[in-house]
Amino acid sequence: MTRKLLIVEDDPGLQSQMRWCFSEDLEVTVASERESALAALRREEPDVVTLDLGLPPDPGGASEGFKLLEEILRLSPMTKVVVVTGREDKENAVKAVGMGASDFYQKPLDADILTFVVNRAFRLAELERENRELARRGNNANIKGIVAASPQMLAICRTLEKVAPTDVTTLITGETGTGKELLARAIHDLSPRVDKPFAAINCAAIPENLLESELFGFEKGSFTGATQAKKGKIESANGGTLFLDEIGDMPMALQAKLLRFLQERVVDRVGSVNPIPVDVRVVCATHRDVRQLIDSGEFREDLYYRISEITLDVPAVREREGDALVIAQSLLKSLGKNMDRPNLAFSEDAINAINTYAWPGNVREMINKIKRATIMADGKRVTADDLELTCEEPAAPSHINLRQVRERAERQAINQALHTTGFNMAQAARLLGITRPTLYNLTDKYQIDTSAEAPGV
Ligand SMILES: Nc1ncnc2c1ncn2[C@@H]1O[C@H](COP(=O)(O)OP(=O)(O)OP(=O)(O)O)[C@@H](O)[C@H]1O
Ligand SMILES: [Mg+2]
Repeated sequence: MTRKLLIVEDDPGLQSQMRWCFSEDLEVTVASERESALAALRREEPDVVTLDLGLPPDPGGASEGFKLLEEILRLSPMTKVVVVTGREDKENAVKAVGMGASDFYQKPLDADILTFVVNRAFRLAELERENRELARRGNNANIKGIVAASPQMLAICRTLEKVAPTDVTTLITGETGTGKELLARAIHDLSPRVDKPFAAINCAAIPENLLESELFGFEKGSFTGATQAKKGKIESANGGTLFLDEIGDMPMALQAKLLRFLQERVVDRVGSVNPIPVDVRVVCATHRDVRQLIDSGEFREDLYYRISEITLDVPAVREREGDALVIAQSLLKSLGKNMDRPNLAFSEDAINAINTYAWPGNVREMINKIKRATIMADGKRVTADDLELTCEEPAAPSHINLRQVRERAERQAINQALHTTGFNMAQAARLLGITRPTLYNLTDKYQIDTSAEAPGV
């Protein structure tokens, strides 16, 4: 990759000296004032900028330079800015570094020293990029089956990795379809109990009168039809993990019995007088608000404290930054493979729709919609329509190519720039990193109305 350097310098003599100094090894752009410097920054995305602090209209001072420094770092915080100050101007150099400049250089120009300083800035930029890349790669969920990119889910994964090897009772809360069961299994898989059973029971799915014997088992003859003794779920999880799903729906009477089990670690089979010791790690989940259940008298507060030694609150998909798309991509890949359509990809309108839709049913809803889409999609593209998601953008044509994608993105960016600048063509062009004539050509091409009175503005 060629190294790009932006030189911001108003003195033509120094401009050509610096160009001469660097243009052999670097791709050099020169700007002589703030506006064109920002335009060049947007256009070239240089890793390093040398910035003369004394720029017009304040060539003798540093106000314009500081203003520009601030803007560069706001627009592109990773850019390394080397400020160039007048001789003896230590004070401003120090101030600039305090503001975020990576280094400074004092005139008069010495080619060797300046080259050294600039190369060092490039090396720094490159090292930082490598670090970011490594951090990004190491920072995925890294737990089998869990796809996540959002800081919220990554934090939950890190907590889960710490909690899993212990025996603490863990409560997982979150809306339907957010992955509570998936996390419960991950806790088991990452624990020393991994080779022992994982026994799950859904407290909401079993009628109240059966739940007790399901959980605790029963002795022969303890009720009509009990022709044989049977182990309950808790016993069958011995040595492993017991997952009590939808614990919020457990009937009050059983809550008392469960509490006793959690305190004593023994089970009383129905109809038995001999408590049986059981070693299990307990994980619970619920989509209900347990605090509220406690207030309304439907859940025992003492049981709540027992089961929530650690609580993992799983956020809804719409609250996770960036997760919807990565999960959707991963589902499209796996469900597409199942459907014998391994090369499906989302169209641009589908991507927009996935990112903006609220996903009230979370990942479970995504699975349903994507499964449908893998069946419905024509060609290789899955559209918002295939997902049954509506999208503000006009429906995509069936064959999207890169040019169309680019054009749509261009149109959107131009519209945005025009609105941001109040339809000032010169400012909008600078914001986009293009010349004014180019902007006029593009607005012609896309038939974008450039007058502020345009309807819909
Ligand atoms: N982050 C994720 N990455 C990949 N798949 C996920 C993720 N989260 C959930 N899933 C998948 O979505 C489906 C629903 O997840 P799960 O059953 O764990 O949710 P839940 O919170 O228990 O939902 P419910 O309240 O409906 O029981 C499962 O098939 C699960 O594998
Ligand atoms: Mg569940």
